[in-house]
Amino acid sequence: MPPTRREFLNCTSNAVIIATLSPDILAATTTTEPTMTTPVPSAFTAVHESKPLPFDPSELDGLSEKLIRSHWENNYGGSVKALNTIKQRLAGALADPDLPAYVYNDLKREHLMRTGSVVLHELYFDNLGATDKPDAILRQALLGAFGSMDSWEKEFRRMGAGLGGGSGWVVLGYNLHTGLLENYWLWDHLHSPAATLPLLVMDMYEHSYQMDYGAAAPAYVDAFFRNIKWQVVAARWEKAHKSRAILA
Ligand SMILES: [Fe+2]
Repeated sequence: MPPTRREFLNCTSNAVIIATLSPDILAATTTTEPTMTTPVPSAFTAVHESKPLPFDPSELDGLSEKLIRSHWENNYGGSVKALNTIKQRLAGALADPDLPAYVYNDLKREHLMRTGSVVLHELYFDNLGATDKPDAILRQALLGAFGSMDSWEKEFRRMGAGLGGGSGWVVLGYNLHTGLLENYWLWDHLHSPAATLPLLVMDMYEHSYQMDYGAAAPAYVDAFFRNIKWQVVAARWEKAHKSRAILA
């Protein structure tokens, strides 16, 4: 049966990418000429697609639909497009023997930053959209780690307020290496705590609140807290806890 138009275009696109890869990569991935079924190395493939918002943006409390849609489309969506572009550029750059390594690493820096932006934004939107409360198991974990729920929330909020007017993320994370549940300050998309699974993610870049709150970052933090989907946070905690048990 002849290939469909989509199959043909996919095949053609893959062949173009493969043709630009270095001999080392080609050797590692295939020993034959590219065919309709030759896999393209995922490290050099534009595989990222924007995830739809997991909630109705008109129904959040204190975060406008205009703000959320702009954030999702321009900031998150922009990073998805940029990440795909960078990954395709990496393939071509690696095949160029005259490209200085430090120039190549400029692309890898952008790759790291855009990956951080895409992943953190998806985690952020996924933990918004509800008005529930932490379940008993998560509450107990926070109590054990911080002494009280108030202590945990006080620190998380204070870190958010401290990032007002600037950029960064506040993350409640479970460190798989230390086994500790802690709040972490992320300077930007590039920096995340080592070996840590994010449980609750709060975007503190100005684009997350300026449209609704101007420079009043604490008011945005209040609104963020009114919309946390705690069932998602609890599910992440359960998975993180199980992961450490497997890794130990
Ligand atoms: Fe953002």
